[in-house]
Amino acid sequence: MAPKHYVVDIGKYVNENVVLKGWVYNARSSGKLVFIELRDGTGIIQCVLFKGNVSEELFNEVKSLPQESSLIIHGKVREDKRSPIGFEVDVANAEIVHKAAEYPISPKEHGVAFLMDHRHLWLRSKRQFAILRIRDEIIRAIRDFFDERGFICFDAPIFTPNACEGTSTLFQTNYFDQKAYLTQSGQLYGEAGAMAFGKVYCFGPTFRAEKSKTRRHLTEFWMIEPEMAYYDLNDDMDLAEEFIEYIVQRVVEKKRPELAIIERDISKLENIKRPFPRISYEEAIAILQKNNMPAKFGDDFGGDEETIIAQNFNKPLIIHRFPAKIKAFYMKNDPHNKELVLGMDMLAPEGYGEIIGGAQREDDYEILKQKILEHGLSLENFNWYLDLRKYGSVPHAGFGLGLERTVAWICGLHHVRETNPFPRLMDRLSP
Ligand code: 4AD
Ligand code: MG
Repeated sequence: MAPKHYVVDIGKYVNENVVLKGWVYNARSSGKLVFIELRDGTGIIQCVLFKGNVSEELFNEVKSLPQESSLIIHGKVREDKRSPIGFEVDVANAEIVHKAAEYPISPKEHGVAFLMDHRHLWLRSKRQFAILRIRDEIIRAIRDFFDERGFICFDAPIFTPNACEGTSTLFQTNYFDQKAYLTQSGQLYGEAGAMAFGKVYCFGPTFRAEKSKTRRHLTEFWMIEPEMAYYDLNDDMDLAEEFIEYIVQRVVEKKRPELAIIERDISKLENIKRPFPRISYEEAIAILQKNNMPAKFGDDFGGDEETIIAQNFNKPLIIHRFPAKIKAFYMKNDPHNKELVLGMDMLAPEGYGEIIGGAQREDDYEILKQKILEHGLSLENFNWYLDLRKYGSVPHAGFGLGLERTVAWICGLHHVRETNPFPRLMDRLSP
């Protein structure tokens, strides 16, 4: 039953007989020929059925098959210079597995709401195929990068009593007779992991009740979060830079056909090589003022500000040392300026905004305790976290990369909704 041949490696079978099991992506006929674009999940190949090769009944049935009917093709692989993949199949026989009902997503243009309602089917389109295969490669590159550098994969819980990234975007849920939140970030647990294993990363879904309907915000997104003992802010920025170059160059190397399907300008990605520019928060404010934006010290950056700051750079840009009052409680104060913290954000080029947020962490027990209180958080849930500063506290740092925003940037997409198989947005919980 299981397929022996797949479109992705059809080039190995030139002039050989194969059996391809898939679905009709598109079909058209011309006289004695039917041209079937067969989709098998690994790719699409044109299969040519000649009337004389099969019974008239089968020929007519295949000819009128609705889009997305499932079909098994027996045939011979032929090289064909005109084919986008370089090969075609001459059909010797065909087995209809299931004749599909009339498929709602026709090749004509559809509105976003309609496509999102049919996400379970929209996934079969060429464009979604390309994007989600690139996402898959990015995930593999992420794991390879950390695995090759001696990091331990250290998973963080999803139910948690701790607010890591502020109390305004928490999803609360009942946890027997307690209340729990869905995690906003695995970082605090990662810090415990770094003290136990030196270098760790967690990679999982994170949740934020974002009340913003923007093209960059999901309510559920995947985050990769490395955390390293004895790393300072500079070490952290160096690692983030090496990491991003690694991921982007991996996609350029392995995913050219997919990048071509979505018409991504590959030269822009090839250019993503270290070093990346680094500016301080205060320099970023100066850039905004030069562009006639009403920015002043203490302002946080939204999407518009990020786009303007990044527009003069064709590589990712790191901004470091932010005002303490706009950043999370756990960031370490800058020893040279108490108003600042040793945080950093990386902004993707081409207007994609922040893809990484990170920091050197506060490692002093008393200062951290003070900061927790100043941020209105209850100490009770942070005692375990404070323990990390009681027993062998060391300088340490880490960052979080938002997977979906990274996929959107690398693929050059307008909106993050296409970067996740079933995206969760403020106004979308289904399918
Ligand atoms: O900057 P953030 O909030 O940082 C943290 O959560 C840290 N605790 C990470 C760490 O240091 N371990 O989020 C990190 C990244 C952002 O740069 C962005 O790429 C992504 O997570 N992100 C979102 N992606 C999609 N939708 C949202 N609502 C997002 N919020 C953050
Ligand atoms: Mg951030």
